[in-house]
Order: sequence, then C-alpha cells, then structure tokens
Amino acid sequence: MSVAVAHANIALIKYWGKADRALNLPAVPSLSLTLAGLRTRTEARLITGAEDAVTLDGRPAGGRPRARVIAMLDQLRARAGATSRLAITSHNEFPTAAGLASSASGFAALALAASHALGLELTRQQLSALARQASASAARSVFGGWAELLTGCEHASPIAPPEHLDVRMLVAVTRRGEKAIGSTEAMLHTAETSPYYDAWVSSAGALFTRGKSALLARDLPELGRAMEHSTLAMHASMLAADPGVLYFAPESLAVMHAVRELRGRGFSTFFTLDAGPHVKVLCPSVEAPAVAKELRALPAVLELLEAAPGPAAELLEAP
Ligand code: DP6
Repeated sequence: MSVAVAHANIALIKYWGKADRALNLPAVPSLSLTLAGLRTRTEARLITGAEDAVTLDGRPAGGRPRARVIAMLDQLRARAGATSRLAITSHNEFPTAAGLASSASGFAALALAASHALGLELTRQQLSALARQASASAARSVFGGWAELLTGCEHASPIAPPEHLDVRMLVAVTRRGEKAIGSTEAMLHTAETSPYYDAWVSSAGALFTRGKSALLARDLPELGRAMEHSTLAMHASMLAADPGVLYFAPESLAVMHAVRELRGRGFSTFFTLDAGPHVKVLCPSVEAPAVAKELRALPAVLELLEAAPGPAAELLEAP
C-alpha cells in the first residue's frame, strides 16, 4: 500500500478560465500558498477485482468525483504498462465540515499515492502535470510554500519555500453545507457568457507580475493589495455572467468590510475568496492572534481556522 499526504492551497492571484478545456490548461497565471493543517491523506492499494474501488471521506464515490479519479488512474496505468485495479481511500483531515475546497490537496495526494502504488517514479513536475489535468489548482498543491502555475506550462513550479514570508492565512467559515455551483462549471459559464471575461484574462498577466514581484520583495502590503484586486476582478467577471455567479454571502461581505476596517486601524490584513462564501484573510504572523480575535467576534464568522504556510505533498511510510 502507498500512502501520500498533500495540503490545500489558496490562490493569492487567481486561476479562473481555461485556455484548453480538454487538456485543462489555465487561461491565466496563478500564484498560491500551500497551507499547513488543511491536509488530505490518500491510500492506494493494488487489488484483484475487475474495477477500481474509490472511497472518499468514508463513502464509496460515484458520478463525476469517481470519474475524475478513474481518469487519473487510467493515465497512470497506461504510463506504467499496467492493468491492475486499485483501491483508493482518501480522507480530508480538515478541522471543519465546512466544505472548503479539497480537490487541490486530494488530487495532489492521489497523483503521488497512485503513481507510487503502480511502481512509477515520477518527478515533481510530472506529478504536478498529472494533478493539473484533474483539477488545475491541484498542480500547485504538489509543492510546499509559494507556487505558480503559468499559462502554456503543463505543471506548477515552486517560487519560494514556506518560510519566505512569515504570514498566516485565517480561514473565516461563514456558512455550513452550502451546495454552490462548482468551480469548473462556473468558470466555463463565465467564459461563455460574461462580457468581462476577456478583460479578466487580458489583465491577469500584469496582476500576476505585480503579485509575484511583491512576494519576491517580501512586500506583504503590496502582495495583499494585488491579492484583493485579483479576487475582486475574478468575482466581477463571474458577476457579469448571464445568469451571474454569486458566491458572496452577506456574511462574506461583512468579513471583507471588517478586514478593511482592521486595515484602517493599522493592521496589514487582506482578504481573498474562492468559489464559495468563506473568506481567507492573509496577515503577518505577529498580527494573527489579534486579527483572529477580532474576526471570531463577528456574528458572520462561524469558525476560524488558522493556517501557516505548509509543506509539499509527500509519501508516508505505509503501516
Ligand atoms: C477560484 O482548480 O477547482 O479556487 O481546473 O476546473 O478543476 P478545475 O478548477 P479548480 O478551480 C479553482 C478556482 C479558484 C482559484 C484558484 O484556486 O486559483
């Protein structure tokens, strides 16, 4: 049996839109931080049955989630020249049931565990390219710390190690069990119907360069401003779709305003939102206790998770 773990990542500069739908290549460059604590653990075992067995968070998977796993396994079998079936058991060890995105950590851990079970020794770049085909954001979770996924490139790449910037990402959980439209579907709908999609794509390169330069210069306020600009521009493109895609809940807006108020009081805090109502807040480590206390006091915040920059995906010793 092979066991791998990988951590969720949050994009500071967002990926939203595909240059090639079949190959799942992004239309815009993105920059992310992998987070400690938000971990997926995946086991892969060769079995004798006629079909792969896929268990996600304790339940047999069906439909699209299962199909995405099998597609990756089929690719790996083709590469290994193998016909063996696998039993995949994946568990999200997130300290919440709040429906935080787990596909990134899940597909990164799956790529590592399943390739190892099939006897393949893939490079980090190959693992990242494999994860990207399942879910583009997963390409970044193969790496620890700060990573980028460029356009016209099959895999993500590391930019800087976790300790490059001493920050925390506070995840403000604002709603429970919401069934929102998935990111894949929502970004395709944005590309097809939003008059702002082209503007989003054409401005994404400059925004990425701004964010990456700020990161390399360890300029947290400038990185934070670029991060807020990226998320708001991404959401603007989807708000202008027809019908508009609305991930903001009233509670999300309350947290966004609170973050800006904290900034007015001298804190270096910035927000970002993905395809859901939760708000992720970036701040320097030294400010994290005070910022966390302020956010926890908001009626809009059901739960607050605190995550440090996290490590790369890795294989564990099987028991
Ligand atoms: C808003 O990686 O889930 O989180 O490639 O279709 O699986 P697919 O999309 P996915 O999209 C993530 C979108 C995002 C921004 C980001 O992580 O960069």
